[in-house]
Amino acid sequence: MKLKGLGAGLISVWLSGFLLIALSFYGTLLLSPSLHNPYFPRESSTAPRIIIFTALHISSSSFDSQAIHSWLALSSQVKVVLFTQHNNNSSLTDTFGSRLLLDSTVDFTFLGTPFLHSMLARTEAYASDIAVLIDPHTLLLPDFISALNHAHHELDRDWLLVSSSVNIPRFPFHWDQTGHFWRQYNGKRVRFGELQKMISLQSNSSEEANMIMAWNNVDSPLHCGVLPPFLYQRGTHNQWIVNEALSCKRRFVFDATSTISSVSTGNAEKKFDSRNWEYIGNSHLGKLYGSLSKSYALPKLLKCNKRYILVTASDGFRTREKISACISRSKSRSLKLEPVKKDQAVSPLKLPYDLESLLPLVADKNRTVVLSVAGFSYKDMLMSWVCRARRLAVPNFLVCALDDETYQFAILQGLPVFFDPYAPKNISFNDCHFGSKCFQRVTKVKSRTVLKILKMGYNVLLSDVDVYWFRNPLPLLHSFGPSVLVAQSDEYNTTVPINRPRRLNSGFYFARSDEPTIAAMEKVVKHAATSGLSEQPSFYDTLCGEGGVHRLGDDRCVEPQTNLTVHFLDRDLFPNGAYRDIWLKEDVRGECEKKHCYVLHNNWISGRLKKLERQMMKGLWDYDASMRMCV
Ligand SMILES: *[C@@H]1O[C@H](CO)[C@@H](O)[C@H](O)[C@H]1NC(C)=O
Ligand SMILES: *[C@@H]1O[C@H](CO)[C@@H](O)[C@H](O)[C@H]1NC(C)=O
Ligand SMILES: *[C@@H]1O[C@H](CO)[C@@H](O)[C@H](O)[C@H]1NC(C)=O
Ligand SMILES: *[C@@H]1O[C@H](CO)[C@@H](O)[C@H](O)[C@H]1NC(C)=O
Ligand SMILES: *[C@@H]1O[C@H](CO)[C@@H](O)[C@H](O)[C@H]1NC(C)=O
Ligand SMILES: *[C@@H]1O[C@H](CO)[C@@H](O)[C@H](O)[C@H]1NC(C)=O
Ligand SMILES: *[C@@H]1O[C@H](CO)[C@@H](O)[C@H](O)[C@H]1NC(C)=O
Repeated sequence: MKLKGLGAGLISVWLSGFLLIALSFYGTLLLSPSLHNPYFPRESSTAPRIIIFTALHISSSSFDSQAIHSWLALSSQVKVVLFTQHNNNSSLTDTFGSRLLLDSTVDFTFLGTPFLHSMLARTEAYASDIAVLIDPHTLLLPDFISALNHAHHELDRDWLLVSSSVNIPRFPFHWDQTGHFWRQYNGKRVRFGELQKMISLQSNSSEEANMIMAWNNVDSPLHCGVLPPFLYQRGTHNQWIVNEALSCKRRFVFDATSTISSVSTGNAEKKFDSRNWEYIGNSHLGKLYGSLSKSYALPKLLKCNKRYILVTASDGFRTREKISACISRSKSRSLKLEPVKKDQAVSPLKLPYDLESLLPLVADKNRTVVLSVAGFSYKDMLMSWVCRARRLAVPNFLVCALDDETYQFAILQGLPVFFDPYAPKNISFNDCHFGSKCFQRVTKVKSRTVLKILKMGYNVLLSDVDVYWFRNPLPLLHSFGPSVLVAQSDEYNTTVPINRPRRLNSGFYFARSDEPTIAAMEKVVKHAATSGLSEQPSFYDTLCGEGGVHRLGDDRCVEPQTNLTVHFLDRDLFPNGAYRDIWLKEDVRGECEKKHCYVLHNNWISGRLKKLERQMMKGLWDYDASMRMCV
């Protein structure tokens, strides 16, 4: 008995000694500053892999490399993905090394503003344990990683962390790249504690624009809704996501503002500059879509005596009282979120650009634009066409809206759009197909608009939205030279000349802004105005003569008064919808790729729905209307 007791005593002494040694060893590990990372404890092997996503607006001239330095310094487990329009900026990759990845696959508006839904969809392509979405001007300090680690290890369900930054437009320190710490401008090293203190003393939390979001299980969606095409960092979308994530209940949403020191140094973009409409557009989208509009209080992640505590609104009084003493010592900041107000009236949107001011914004260096004209019944097809243009990196497209619904819709999709006030009203939804009265009126808008643009000094490739593009035809079309109007042939018979009477397709043609073309287009428009037919016969009869008297060879015409040559495009490269029954082929895309087609026209079919169906069934469709984005 005695011996046994003694043995147990010895063992316990020995054990506790061992424990002490182990603990102190562990403590040393924690406290010893890592050479590369003076603010940090050493990383354990269970450190989560973190990817920080952000995007650069083309307009953000004041790109702040300090922010990215501060992120990469957080931990070697951090990678940064920067969405930009060009992934060839070697100065960026040289500065930041291989942990910075440039990604140019997301969609941007014509003004270079990235689409949030496109960015978030893309985040799933990167393997990580935690994804972070952050403003490119926000500096992070090490307690960010501690908060993420806490969430990663302690929460037993999927989560979404949100945190707001303080606004310090002129951050008084600079990053020492070799030493991996901040210095004052007199060269003195800044301690982490000083930084933290400085931040916690700031009473002005910045607006939700500078909200940080982080979430785990990156393959699982943040919310149950479908993100509308919000413009990144143009307001509303952060509230919207928090709203939706809360109402969806798939993730635990909490506010970690008081445990995360982050500084927004962005020279806070003024809301009331010329891009004000981008904010208004986002606010419209927020009102149009989404579910929750109640006020709410997020659970908060707090830190008390070096321990993290989660406090929810429903936690009892005692808990709150217990921690309140601790919190009041360091002023606790929290996120200010206004719920998206849904009941307010949505006033019509207007772009601050008309045709004249859009042209220089979108035209390429050859002063060429690609024009499409669309009414509301073709809005999905317009979007598919736009998505295709984006995929092919054709930046110089322009949309003429035939009605106000299309105009509003296009603004919300971030398209360069103008409204034709002379467009016929009352365009019927399903029956505006080839040959109908409606069709005749609509087509006349097209030639008139093209003429207007030519007169402003820009070349125009007119492409109907039912023309599917396989590759960019502009370089080829340019090669025909001046005084040549290049058009698709509508001839389907393979044994006859392609310039036969009335076979000029006015749904796909390239017109140069030169004297002969402008003079000839004026004749076309004049002819169409007095004709009871669509504009297509006016094109042919004016340019090739009635019955084709001005034909030259098998594929051209020369209009004698203006000397404009009309060149009909090779149908193997630019097939119309009836040529060689291409649309009946099993594999339309394969067939076209074999022929090296540039475009394929989805014409020679009657009815809007049949047309849509044919294009979708054959896989020549690039817009997912249910996800509201390009696919
Ligand atoms: C990057 O690519 C874009 C378009 O592809 C081009 O305009 C730009 O000049 C390129 N920049 C560099 C540095 O190569
Ligand atoms: C590359 O990025 C840096 C930092 O944003 C910027 O200053 C520079 O103009 C960019 N260079 C090109 C060619 O885009
Ligand atoms: C905080 O905000 C108020 C008004 O919004 C402003 O007058 C004040 O200068 C700000 N303080 C700091 C430290 O930025
Ligand atoms: C609009 O269309 C409807 C049906 O096609 C027709 O009855 C009505 O008169 C049209 N209104 C105008 C202003 O053209
Ligand atoms: C611009 O014009 C030049 C000269 O005509 C041509 O070589 C080039 O392909 C054109 N670029 C585009 C994008 O059309
Ligand atoms: C094509 O044209 C030839 C010659 O005019 C004619 O004999 C033939 O029937 C036409 N084919 C079709 C499918 O219309
Ligand atoms: C068209 O070409 C002919 C012969 O080359 C020439 O005599 C005539 O002046 C030209 N017309 C115009 C409008 O340039």
